[in-house]
Amino acid sequence: MALLKFPDGFQWGAASAAYQIEGAHEEDDRGVSIWDTFTHQPGRIVDQSNGDVACDHYHRVQQDVDLMASLGLQTYRFSVAWSRVMPFGKGAISEKGLAFYDRLIDALLAKGIQPALTLYHWDLPQSLQDLGGWTNRSIADWFADYANLCFERFGDRVARWITLNEPIIFTEFGHRTGVMAPGIRDLALYGRAAHHALLAHGRAVQAFRASGKPGEIGITNANTSYEAADDSPETAAAVELARDFDSRLFHGPVFGKGYPQSVLAFHETRHAALPVEPGDMEIIATPTDFLGTNLYSRALIEAAPGRGVGFAHAAPRLPLLPMGYEAAPHALGDFVRWVSKEYGNPKIYITENGVCDNSEPGPDGQINDSTRIELLGGFLKGLHGAIEAGCDVRAFYQWSLYDNFEWAFGYTKRFGMVYTDFETQKRIPKMSAAWYSDIIRRNGVEV
Ligand code: BGC
Repeated sequence: MALLKFPDGFQWGAASAAYQIEGAHEEDDRGVSIWDTFTHQPGRIVDQSNGDVACDHYHRVQQDVDLMASLGLQTYRFSVAWSRVMPFGKGAISEKGLAFYDRLIDALLAKGIQPALTLYHWDLPQSLQDLGGWTNRSIADWFADYANLCFERFGDRVARWITLNEPIIFTEFGHRTGVMAPGIRDLALYGRAAHHALLAHGRAVQAFRASGKPGEIGITNANTSYEAADDSPETAAAVELARDFDSRLFHGPVFGKGYPQSVLAFHETRHAALPVEPGDMEIIATPTDFLGTNLYSRALIEAAPGRGVGFAHAAPRLPLLPMGYEAAPHALGDFVRWVSKEYGNPKIYITENGVCDNSEPGPDGQINDSTRIELLGGFLKGLHGAIEAGCDVRAFYQWSLYDNFEWAFGYTKRFGMVYTDFETQKRIPKMSAAWYSDIIRRNGVEV
């Protein structure tokens, strides 16, 4: 056994998102969000569930922060529900909604836990969706106004801001494949949503700088580590294409490299051009302070000439996790090395990495989530290697603190290091919670 030490000052945390944990969907002034609408449509969510109650975090803030402190978390990433603080997405403000996040932030700070606030984790106010949501260019103004409200109200205590969580997921799955809210299936609308999301990000970064608040701001992208299914040059080219349509589409513009030509051409030839206007790319490229990186797996890529975009996912070769993707512990370190090289070694926070392990309490009440422990250990070993090789990674947020509402999978997938009994709302730390506490205490992982 060897202890892989992380650099001094490296931060360990956990991440969550408002709709997945808060519940209290009609409480105080909270307005309806697209996830309220979506989950209440029959057939959208595998177990027909919704986030009406979720982990009831809205009523359990102090208890939940105490739990984080007992695990030794140094930082906690959460999101603000836009429709809690601006019930209709623009205009009226809810003081009660703002007060809820004040309570959370103050409770974290009282325990010495640094808040990291995500402005948007998928729960768009329904009133804005009724105006076209992300497909309407005005969303960049609406988002900048909402971001300003948050900077104004929380910027004295929050010093780490994430504009958007995983724009590729909420734009593509929400507008092209339709498996997530708002459930649209339209390539042109997807292209519009994707570009407007990046524009909104850029506008929020500008607003943050103009606010004069101290602290740092960045974006969080969803990532997959792409690997070639064989050694042929065609396959190598297909891997680059896969990166174009995923990583480079959302990282390129933020780092001033623009959209990949392959993506622009694909959309143009299908009458679904990205609605880029003069000046947009400069706004999107407004410098950020860090890159938020989420990663859960890898994908094996093969060439698919003449089909779709020209690449396809090859058959998996590693054991599958309940989410349907491969258990690939090497993927985190590999991706961090790739993205660091591609974009000039930016400062990186791993804003999400974790494992779905559906272990239930045993006869003794213990939850032995050994798959989570084993895989996370592998992810952290790879991350450590990337840091040793010079990648500038400063924090790791495990997804997630406790089991919660897993979007279209409802409550059927458990990602928590703490078990949530959704009947009683009891939180029971799993084996991985003690294991993670130990990593935090030693600032290192034993392999
Ligand atoms: C999302 C989370 C989600 C997690 C696990 C990420 O894509 O940001 O909201 O729960 O993956 O699937």
